Amino acid sequence: MATERKHLLYFLTTEAHPSPFDINMAYDAGFHAVIPYGGVTEEIAALLVQDIIFSRGPKGAKFSAIFIGGNDEDLAERIRETAVKNMFPPFQCSMMIDPKGAYTTAVALVAKVDKAFGGLKGKKVAIPGGTGPVGRVAATLCAKLGSEVIIGSRRLAEVEKLGQQLSERTGGDIRGVLMATDEGKIPHLRDVNLILTTGKAGIEMISETVLKTLRPGTFVADVNAVPPTGIYALSVDDDMKEIVPGIRGIGALAIGVLKYDVEMEMLETIRTSDKFTVLDENAALEIARRRLSA
Ligand SMILES: NC(=O)c1ccc[n+]([C@@H]2O[C@H](COP(=O)([O-])OP(=O)(O)OC[C@H]3O[C@@H](n4cnc5c(N)ncnc54)[C@H](OP(=O)(O)O)[C@@H]3O)[C@@H](O)[C@H]2O)c1
Repeated sequence: MATERKHLLYFLTTEAHPSPFDINMAYDAGFHAVIPYGGVTEEIAALLVQDIIFSRGPKGAKFSAIFIGGNDEDLAERIRETAVKNMFPPFQCSMMIDPKGAYTTAVALVAKVDKAFGGLKGKKVAIPGGTGPVGRVAATLCAKLGSEVIIGSRRLAEVEKLGQQLSERTGGDIRGVLMATDEGKIPHLRDVNLILTTGKAGIEMISETVLKTLRPGTFVADVNAVPPTGIYALSVDDDMKEIVPGIRGIGALAIGVLKYDVEMEMLETIRTSDKFTVLDENAALEIARRRLSA
């Protein structure tokens, strides 16, 4: 019989190759071992969870934890549900979900602008490139905080459908619009309070031309740290900097620092919690807001 309990993290991801990003962070958060499983489905998760919870006895289950990740948020959410359903006291271990880092990244982005603006209720928010995982979660969070949201995409039919789905899911006001060119972006962005760019890494979503048409007082933020950044003249380290007259912005590293702290706190919580805990984007938002108000 072992005398010392090791803290083990089971990393269940929908991707074939589990991301080293989350594995490295988990070791830094104090787990003794991180055991990655790629290509996880709901069926596989149900089998894995049984072996994770029963193998360490009733008192040992809490020394194991589960991280659910991957590039398919919907599947990751179904895996989370399956995992919860397959546990019962005292055979429960704490969990967190952060598919492709999208929850913690979107949370850090939204929490930073929420703080900068003194709340997002009643604000108009545009999310160019918002059809990816980070943009979809950011749109959902902004709507839940009371903003009117438009998601911009190069694909009109897809983004209109996404807007409808997210509006139904949140009960908020989220609309998909075409933003394929500068000319297509300008009319949508002229009267918004906030622009959050969540486009693919290395793609400039807001050009100099578009930036110059924005109303003074418009606030911009970007999560793309790969050059060029998502917004012309915005550097990754900028944090509330005036980048052109009347326009202030927050860059990807200023957001990334908060994302890192939030993910680290979530990992430490599921490692040390005595109580069964499941942490998602809502828990992440609470952590981010508390950290920003400290
Ligand atoms: N700071 C951090 O810690 C952190 C963590 C995770 C991710 N990120 C960053 O967050 C951003 C979003 O990540 P994600 O995974 O959600 O993004 P993604 O899925 O790779 O891309 C988001 C959207 O960008 C649009 N897009 C792709 N190529 C484009 C092009 N050539 N021109 C214009 N639009 C284009 C696509 O929208 P349409 O096809 O609908 O137009 C796509 O759905 C990335 O820049 C990523 O690097 C940062």
